[in-house]
Parts: sequence; C-alpha cells; structure tokens
Amino acid sequence: MCGIVGYVGSQEAAPLLLDGLKRLEYRGYDSAGIATLCNGHFTIHRSAGKLSTLLERLAGSSSPGSVGIAHTRWATHGRPTEANAHPHTDCKGQVVAVHNGIFENFAERKAELESLGHRFTSETDTEVFAHQVEQGFRGDLFDAVRSATKKVTGAYAVLVSSSAEPGVLVAARSGPPIALGLGKNENWVASDPVALVPWTRDVVFLEDGDVARVDAKSVKISDAEGRPRDRATHRILWDAVAAEKGGYRHFMAKEIHEQPTAVAETLGGKVSLETGELFLDLPLLAPERVTGFDRVLLLACGTSWHAALIGKFLIEGMARMSVEVDYGSEFRYRSPVVDGRTLTVGVSQSGETADTMAALTEARGAGSPLVAIVNVAGSQMARTADAVIETHAGPEIGVASTKAFTTQLAVLFLLAAKLRESRALGRGLTAQERAGLVHLPSAIQRALSLERKIENLARDFHSATNFLFLGRGLHYPVALEGALKLKEISYIHAEGYPAGEMKHGPIALVDENLPVVVLAPNDAWREKTLSNLREVKSRDGISLVVTTREDEEIASLADHSLVIPETIPELQPIVSVVPLQLLAYHMAVRRGCDVDQPRNLAKSVTVE
Ligand code: AGP
Repeated sequence: MCGIVGYVGSQEAAPLLLDGLKRLEYRGYDSAGIATLCNGHFTIHRSAGKLSTLLERLAGSSSPGSVGIAHTRWATHGRPTEANAHPHTDCKGQVVAVHNGIFENFAERKAELESLGHRFTSETDTEVFAHQVEQGFRGDLFDAVRSATKKVTGAYAVLVSSSAEPGVLVAARSGPPIALGLGKNENWVASDPVALVPWTRDVVFLEDGDVARVDAKSVKISDAEGRPRDRATHRILWDAVAAEKGGYRHFMAKEIHEQPTAVAETLGGKVSLETGELFLDLPLLAPERVTGFDRVLLLACGTSWHAALIGKFLIEGMARMSVEVDYGSEFRYRSPVVDGRTLTVGVSQSGETADTMAALTEARGAGSPLVAIVNVAGSQMARTADAVIETHAGPEIGVASTKAFTTQLAVLFLLAAKLRESRALGRGLTAQERAGLVHLPSAIQRALSLERKIENLARDFHSATNFLFLGRGLHYPVALEGALKLKEISYIHAEGYPAGEMKHGPIALVDENLPVVVLAPNDAWREKTLSNLREVKSRDGISLVVTTREDEEIASLADHSLVIPETIPELQPIVSVVPLQLLAYHMAVRRGCDVDQPRNLAKSVTVE
C-alpha cells in the first residue's frame, strides 16, 4: 500500500533513504517524502506524484543528517497532494511520522487532540499519530510511541523519529509488514527487505503488536506494554540484483522472462524430478491429518484467486477432495461453514493482502488448520499459518503478477499430488507428471519465444476498446487471468468467461470490433471450445486462438493463432498464460501505459 524506509547510522541518510524508496515504489506511487535530522532540526521534502518528482525537487537542495525516514504513498485518507504526503509532523515540528495502513479511529482521535490544542495541516489519518506521540512524549520516544499505539485502532505500520531523541527511530506494527535491517553501527527499517538487500541481508520481521526501538548500535523490541519480545534474525538469500530490471525495459518484462527459472526453483527441493518422490514433508499434510479433512478451502484475491481456481481442478481431479474457492473479501463477510475438518489454503504472492489475511484468520478461528502458499518468506501469512509452502519466484516488483502466478500453479500441482498420496490414491508423481515437470521450464521458454509475433499482434489490437477471453475447464481461470492482466496494465476493458457460458449473454457483444482470445489447448474440452470459436467467427468477431495443435480446422477458423508447447493438462495453464501475459505487456507498451506502476493500483493491498 505504502512504502516506509528509515535509517540511523553514520552515513548520509538521504541517498540511502531515496534508494530504498525507489525499491519500494511498487507499494504506492502517488506522492513521496523524506525527513532527515541534523543538529536538532528536521529537513522535510515532500511532493505529489511519483518519486521522480521528489527526486527532481531534491536535486537543488540538501537533506543533511545521518538519521531519517521516508515514504512513498498510495492514498487512502486524503488526496495525493503535497500537503497529504508523508512524513507528517506534530505541532512543534519535533516529531515526524510515516505510516502504511489505516487508523480506523482517526476522526475520534483527531477531535480529541484538537480539543487539547493540536493543530492539523493535512487530511490524513497519519498526522494524528504524530500528534498522539507529541501528546504522550515524556522524554522517551519509545514510550511515547508505545502509548500512542494503545490509542489507535486499525491496521498499520508506523515509523517515527523525534528531534528530542536524535539517534533513535521507533517502529510499530499491527498488520502491514515492517522489517528491520541490521548493519554494523547502522540499522534500517523498511516495509519490505527489498529495500534493505543492497545494505544488509540480516533482517528481523516485526510481528503484530511489536514496537521496536532502533538506534545505530542496537534494536529493542517489546509489546505495547513494554514487555520484551524476542524475534529471530532471518538471512535474506536472494541478492539485490534480483530486484533490479537487469537490462529489461520494465520489471514486468523481466519477471515474465524469469518464469522458466522461477518455476524450476519453486520445484527444487519439493519433488525429485528423477523419481517423482514428493518432499512436502509437512505434518499437516501427513496421511493421519489429511484423512481427517473432508474438504479444502482455497482463499485468495486477484491473480492468486485465479491460481486457486486452477488449484480446485487439480485437487479435485488428483486427490478427489471437494474444494471450495473464495475471494478473501467475500469470505470474511459471510457466515461460512468451516470447522476442523476443512483444510484451509491461503494463496498470496505478498503474504500480506488484508482481505486474504482476514479471511484466513476467520477460517482458522473456526478451527480449520491453515496452509499458506506465499512468495514472501517471513510475511504475515507465512508467520500465521500452521504450514507454509513457499513459491521461490524471487522478488516480484511489477504490479501485475506474472511469475508469482505460474509458481503458485506449480505449488498447487504438488499440493494436489501430496494430498493424493496422503489419501493413499497414488505414490509421488506418475511418470507422465514427472516428465511434465521435467520439460516445463523449456515449454515456458518456447512459449516466450512467441514474443515477436505477439508484439506484432499488439500493434494490430492496441486501439481495441474491449476484449473477451474464453476458456473451458482449467483454462477458464487462465481466461480470467488474461483479461485481468490486460485491464490492469493497458486499461482496456476485458472480460474472461467460461467458453460454454458465452451463449448465455456475452455473445451479444461479438462483432467485427471485438477481439476474442480463445484458449483451445488439445484437452478434453477442445471440440467444445472450437464450437465457440465457430460462433465467434460467424458473428464477425476477431479471434486470436492460443492452441497446442494448429490443425486445418483452427487454421480455417482463427484470424490469428499462437501455437504453444503441449504438456499434461494439469500443467498446461502454466504454459498457456505466458502469451496472454506478453500480449497484455505489449499492448500496454504500445498504448504508452505505465506498465510497472499502473494507475490506481499498488502491489500489496494491505487495507480493505
Ligand atoms: C495481479 O496482477 C494483481 N495486481 C492483484 O490482483 C494481486 O494478485 C492481488 O492483489 C493479490 O495479491 P497477493 O497475491 O499478494 O495476495
């Protein structure tokens, strides 16, 4: 939602903070700001717009000091103006605060603080926190922040600095993530270790309710009452280069092309590609536990929800368990029937999506054990779950999820195989499945080699205003994902539909101006899907067929076709989605859109 970064040490803080903000800009990019502390005075620079605007503004000015905090924003309270950009200050300009999340009782707090004489200059909820700290300050910033956290409600990560205690930063977490980066005579604070890896690999993740006092030499963590909390130090294994563009024009392009490696790395250690033996040795997935479950509940949002829909096909088909899939945002507000006989699986790239997290908490509260499939190690979801299966996609910076999706599908496939094994329906992978996995990275690679052709198609299609994506079975969620990719980065209205449902309504949209992307792999539904293609053709629709076998029939029906490698049906979506990602990418580039930071979106949605 927003990105927070802080530094305390002996180096000039500003360049380090700005570098951190660049790496966190994926979290929000409608305004940015920085505060550094020198000789008892804060220098604060803020600006509306992207970080580049702040950087331009800073070019001719200085931000002295070896202590500071900075922020990149995705607006929730108040428009993305300079006045609403963080950091926010108290009345005297002695306390500065940056914040990710929402203080739900901010109106009530603000009214009380105003009645005590505090004056506000922004529309934000964050400013309330700076004044609350000022109100409670008795000479110790750590104590003041601890007591301020008792006055606010909501989901938040906050970072505070005070000129009254110059070498100290205080961070607090209740929901959105905060990581502390440990250095030698210097320490960092950030929303995501992505901002820390150029400087340190040793990271401590705060947990909900933690308040941390950070100076150059030490870190102290307690709860709001001051009771000490012990948090482990994690070593981040990927390096800073993994979070750079590596010669690509956009992170999204790099991440699309990383998929063969990302999928291979995700499989590594979880399965033997020689024998098909599964290594998902989690107690929760052992036969004695699995036989006690009568169904699986998959919860997720956005692209991860599409992966979960495919997971339903995999688990039902391979493990013969009944599966329900729901959006986190829907599940949390109905009265779902869940108990200890339901195995809940949360699917999330970030591991911090508020709606998914709340839904998982709800299911777990009803007695359902929880498996988290996450990409970000140490994320809130990973730390809450009874068992974690990590996708090893590496950092995904582009807002549009690509390699996170395909690695989630790889993990869901292995989970389905593991559940099958624990239900004594088969041991490890079948020879065909194992071969499918062995050849998967090269199949993705070959799908990527269609890029030039797709770039040309994007030239033909880029002025279309609507798109329809059709698929059946496992490819219905792929159609949804193709449509989501297109709309989120190229702002073209696109709908994904189960092909069989087309005649129940969307067929009315088909005319000579509507491009229809038809997913027609060589699977059990192929003939049915081809009849939908005929329906499109007979109404003058423009068809683009993604297929694994281009025969005469497809050649005569399709206006355009993309032939991708064929694999086993359970793995086919991992290959089929690649041309759709490339299509969305090249359409967005053609249309001059901001591919990595599309309007109104943020990478991690840590608020409702
Ligand atoms: C995908 O391209 C999105 N930007 C979005 O739908 C995303 O998948 C969703 O917000 C869920 O995020 P998560 O996987 O981090 O939980």
